[in-house]
Order: sequence, then structure tokens, then C-alpha cells
Amino acid sequence: MSNILANKVAVITGGNSGIGLATAQRFVAEGAQVVITGRREKDLEAAAALIGKNVTTVAGDVSNLDDLDRLFSVVQEKHGRIDILFANAGGGTVAPLATASESHFDQIFDTNVKGLFFTVQKALPLFQDGGSIILTSSNANVLGVPTFTAYAASKAAVRSFARGWTLELKERNIRVNSLSPGPIETPALEKAGLSAEQAEQAAAGFASQVPLGRRGKPEEIASVAVFLASDQSSYITGIDLAVDGGMAQV
Ligand SMILES: NC(=O)c1ccc[n+]([C@@H]2O[C@H](COP(=O)([O-])OP(=O)(O)OC[C@H]3O[C@@H](n4cnc5c(N)ncnc54)[C@H](OP(=O)(O)O)[C@@H]3O)[C@@H](O)[C@H]2O)c1
Repeated sequence: MSNILANKVAVITGGNSGIGLATAQRFVAEGAQVVITGRREKDLEAAAALIGKNVTTVAGDVSNLDDLDRLFSVVQEKHGRIDILFANAGGGTVAPLATASESHFDQIFDTNVKGLFFTVQKALPLFQDGGSIILTSSNANVLGVPTFTAYAASKAAVRSFARGWTLELKERNIRVNSLSPGPIETPALEKAGLSAEQAEQAAAGFASQVPLGRRGKPEEIASVAVFLASDQSSYITGIDLAVDGGMAQV
């Protein structure tokens, strides 16, 4: 590790699992102090134990604005500032258009769109001039994905936020980029409402659509998040960086 994030304060939503957890581990290995969130307290504690040092946990739901206020008041108290925000909490379930319920739609948009929007809004006062905001989108933001359309549309909204906020925050020298994973080996598929067998089939189906021939690992997203978080990407803002084994690029 290079210590490339020495003394940086990073907030990672959805840091108790998958991509967020791998990124928290890597950020700490690179010298950062991290604050991680997620709704499931037990998993947060387990994640903190794995990360081992320089980690604070705050349980909460990103779609609940009071929870977000509580998160950032802990960050204010503990660190007094934010240098890096990885707005990563999210997910989605599958449902065909013809039968999808209102709660299916609301749950996805409340977390992935509203939750992310207010996560960034409420973090802003803690940024000093300069900093990096990374939004987890998905390569589904440019793909048609049957039965996963509410999710894909929510991630297109996230990609759009990176464009607009790049302009809104340019005077403060805050860079905003979206990071779009392809299929990554995390618990997300199991949570999408698929049976174990369907999840296995979906994973194999995804792998067959990826030029590199496999699903990615959370650590392969984490290393790109380090790049976007650090000064190594100092001239990059407003982009959508796909980390998808080429799946949506060819
Ligand atoms: N895995 C993939 O193939 C893939 C591909 C493209 C994009 N992504 C995106 O990558 C991000 C991370 O997903 P992952 O694959 O790492 O899955 P994961 O392991 O299921 O992680 C999702 C994280 O988000 C948190 N979260 C979900 N809803 C939340 C809410 N309402 N409030 C607070 N935290 C919430 C979860 O914690 P709690 O459940 O404890 O709240 C968990 O920490 C998501 O935005 C996902 O859409 C994943």
C-alpha cells in the first residue's frame, strides 16, 4: 500500500458489506480514517472488526434524513471535516414492469436516488475547499436490463447527479465522479429477490456477458475508488468510470 490517503477523512455509506466494506478496508490501508454506515448494526460491528483500526460506525438508513443528520453530526464531532465521500449505499430487487408494486419502485428510488441526493447535500458543509465525492452508479445506467428497470433508471439518475454537481461544486474545487461497477461478487444478487439457484444462474449469465469472462471482486472496485478519492485523479471530474470487465463498453 502507498499511504496515498494519509490523514484523509472518508465517509462511506453502505460500508458494512460488499464494495463499501472492501473500499473501507483499502482506504484505511492507504492511511485514511473512515466512517462507515449501514442499517444493520451487527454487520457494522463485524465490518469494523475486519477493518481493525481508524474506523467509526454509525447505523442508519440513507433514505431517512434524520439518520443522515445524525451521521454527519458524528463526523463533525469526531473529525470536524470530510475529504472523501463514497456515496455507495444502494441496491435493488427484480420485478417485471407488468407486476411491479409501488413499494418496489419507492424502495429503490428512496435509497438509490433520494438517499444519495441527501447524503451528498448533508455532507457538503463538512467539505473544506477541495475533496472528492464518488457516487456508486452501475453499468446498468447505460443498459436495458429486463425486470431490473427501476434499479437501472435509479443508477442513471446517479450518473446524472455527477454531471450536475460537478458544475455546482466546481468553485469549491470538489470533484464529483460516478463509479459504475459491472457484476461484482457481493451479497447484492441474493438480496435482489432471486432464489439461490436463480442467483447462481444470473451470476453465470452475467459472467458470460463480460469480455473478461468473470464477475469482478469488491477489491477491484476498491482500488478504483482509491484512485478517484486521491490526487492521482486530480484532473478528473464529472465522469462515469465503468469497472465492469468491459461488459457495457463493447
Ligand atoms: N454487486 C454488483 O454487482 C453491483 C453492480 C453495480 C452496482 N452496484 C452497487 O454497488 C453498491 C454496493 O453494493 P454491493 O454490491 O456492495 O452490495 P451489498 O454487499 O449488498 O452492499 C450494499 C450496502 O448498502 C447498504 N444499504 C442498502 N440500503 C441502505 C439504506 N437504505 N440505508 C443505508 N445503507 C443501505 C447495505 O447495508 P444495510 O443492508 O445494513 O443497510 C450495504 O452496506 C450499491 O449501490 C449497488 O447498487 C453493485
